[in-house]
Amino acid sequence: MLDMRMVSCFQRCRCAYRYSHRLYSTVKPKYPPSIDICGTQYPTDEVTNITPAIISKIPIRLHTQPAHPLSNLRSLIESHWPDFAHLSSFSPLVTPFKNFDELSFPKDHPGRSVTDSYYINKDLMLRTHTSAHEVEVFREGQSKWLLTADVYRRDEIDASHYPVFHQVEGAKLYESNSTGMKQLEQDNLRLEQYLAKSNIVIEDVANVSETNPVQERHDAVQAEMVARNLKLELNSLILTLFGGAREGAEGEEPLRVRWIEAYFPFTSPSFEVEVFFRGKWLEILGCGVIRQATLDTAGVQNKIGWAFGLGLERIAMILYSIPDIRLFWSTDPRFLSQFKEGEISTFKSYSKYPSCFKDVSFWLPENSGFHENDFCDLVRDVAGDLVEDIDAFVHPKTKRGSLCYRINYCSMDRSLSNEETNEIHKTVVSRLTNEFGVEIR
Ligand code: DAH
Repeated sequence: MLDMRMVSCFQRCRCAYRYSHRLYSTVKPKYPPSIDICGTQYPTDEVTNITPAIISKIPIRLHTQPAHPLSNLRSLIESHWPDFAHLSSFSPLVTPFKNFDELSFPKDHPGRSVTDSYYINKDLMLRTHTSAHEVEVFREGQSKWLLTADVYRRDEIDASHYPVFHQVEGAKLYESNSTGMKQLEQDNLRLEQYLAKSNIVIEDVANVSETNPVQERHDAVQAEMVARNLKLELNSLILTLFGGAREGAEGEEPLRVRWIEAYFPFTSPSFEVEVFFRGKWLEILGCGVIRQATLDTAGVQNKIGWAFGLGLERIAMILYSIPDIRLFWSTDPRFLSQFKEGEISTFKSYSKYPSCFKDVSFWLPENSGFHENDFCDLVRDVAGDLVEDIDAFVHPKTKRGSLCYRINYCSMDRSLSNEETNEIHKTVVSRLTNEFGVEIR
């Protein structure tokens, strides 16, 4: 049985109409024998599904652009752990082996499918998470480090989903001998004292349990101390990130944070952290005690440690009050000029331009293997950031085989004319017919 927790990530699928996860793409545009990515030619094959819209994002590297909110947030996190190695220049092109196998992902994990990930060809993909670099960084001998990078996942389109986003991966290892454990104990004591003084409420019912066990190869006492350290370190990061405004503010609502049990193939026990913000629980990171197999692969011996992966956009949207994830990609000076290096400030919307929706309904050919993410990528490829969101409707009578989507077109920087929107929509419809073989209703 496919466990929903296995799909867990910051961008959990909410698609209304998914037929299945496919290992091979059955509907897709024809590709030339090779494609250019940042000046290098790569051969294509039957799994190729990367689009020009995605390729164009690769060189941008928002997390390194001075004063950009994502880059400011990266700096803030790095300054929270000044003695960690700070890495941010790893290429997003990785082998599926590195993205999945090295981290003990099962062969049938849905993340591997072409419907969920971008492939250049069978042997090369865009990393779906920063964890893809864990083994290589540990192999280099780093034992406390942060790595920030752009990651890529095929997903639906709306205000909080974008196929490219940014993560910070962090990890720390301790010697699994008495010196290491003494150090760990001292670190835990120091962090406990620091957090005891803060105005932060932590709900934590995510303990080591039968469903979230200590690894067989670990000493239970050591593993529990590492998990404790992980939680203390991350709670103090959360306080740095979200607690600032509350410092000394009497009568201020305390920040609420909750830890929940999770599953990741490369950690055990595993956890997720959610923060209560504007009336909603928001998932901001996944973490856990590193599987010893990962450290074995990296050639690391006699050490035990934790790792986490945190989504930058979600946190930046809260801290800067940025209402739409597409804004991070805006080059409009009205957006960019609002931010200063090293500062977190409140974003002021410069305007909301009217949106204009267009519907498209169609019949699918038999056994089409259609997947909503194929449709979203096609629309993005035609309309770029002019798509605000896409809603799917399943016709109540005909159900399977007949689909209807409402595409909301809206620019963040100007008013779109009806003629322009019509032209874009016409291209979407004609590519849909040509590439997916659908029959427009
Ligand atoms: N890579 C996971 C994701 O993208 C997040 C994560 C979970 C990272 C556990 C970790 C970890 O380092 O230990 O959903």
